Amino acid sequence: MANLSVNIAGVEFKNPVITASGCFGFGKEYEKLYPLSRLGGISLKGMTYAERAGNPVPRIAETPAGMLNSVGLQNPGVDAFLANELPYLKDKGTVLIANAAGSSVEDYCALVERLSDSDIDMVELNISCPNVKQGGAAFGVACDSAAHVVKEVRKVCKKPLMVKLSPNVTDIASIAQAVEAEGADAISLINTLFGMRIDIESRRPVLAMNAGGLSGPCVFPVAVRMVWQVANRVKIPVVGLGGIEKWQDAIEMMLAGANAIQVGTAMFYDPYAPLKIIEGVNQWLDDHGIKDVNEIVGQVKPW
Ligand code: FUM
Repeated sequence: MANLSVNIAGVEFKNPVITASGCFGFGKEYEKLYPLSRLGGISLKGMTYAERAGNPVPRIAETPAGMLNSVGLQNPGVDAFLANELPYLKDKGTVLIANAAGSSVEDYCALVERLSDSDIDMVELNISCPNVKQGGAAFGVACDSAAHVVKEVRKVCKKPLMVKLSPNVTDIASIAQAVEAEGADAISLINTLFGMRIDIESRRPVLAMNAGGLSGPCVFPVAVRMVWQVANRVKIPVVGLGGIEKWQDAIEMMLAGANAIQVGTAMFYDPYAPLKIIEGVNQWLDDHGIKDVNEIVGQVKPW
């Protein structure tokens, strides 16, 4: 068996497979299926300082090889999370990543300050949610606003800080570089692509918010390209996500430059996908005589 452990920003993961934010809730439903300790880590549902009810329904729709969502960051707020969810999660034997969202810089800072004194292992700063009117992706689509929020959050964040980037930009590598310069310890990408579908009989958009975030296998090639571009531009670790559903996708993403990967939409149709990916990656490494998963990171041979 190869070494599967990876180190991201000083945090040790037993394997490189992390469940993506928004696709695993706070883990309770999945623990009925398997011990959470089998996962490298869990990125928890995007959280804000105050509770949010989220967007009106319909807010999820299936698309060919993908899914559109406009959940709108429904979450109980940080105090309820710390009181009701974290005590249950903290001894599960997996890395806990709090996905932190906000509508202003002050909001992000207040939230991250609260998380900094908790048992969370890492913060994933979500500057890429496309489904909220204020904040979210508005911070993540330009170098200066992304840099500014990271600079301010860095001052109050006592945990390793990973920044989750939006693909709805023209030059994602420059945004990655900008947040690295302000103290990000790692980068995760990609969040969802902003998309829209219309029901031709009712003539209404399939989502009540009209448009929303596209995820699933259909976005995988975009994610691979962006991870490759970012990994070639920054020195900090990169966590790749966007449409990963099989172990082959995980290996491909790591060859592109990801030090670890996240599995998201696939879990809605196969909750065991992360475990199958861990097993498949391990088998592939053995079959190729590779002793350590870290050896494949960034090993694509561009033409
Ligand atoms: O709408 C949502 O809750 C999605 C969040 C995200 O894409 O980060």
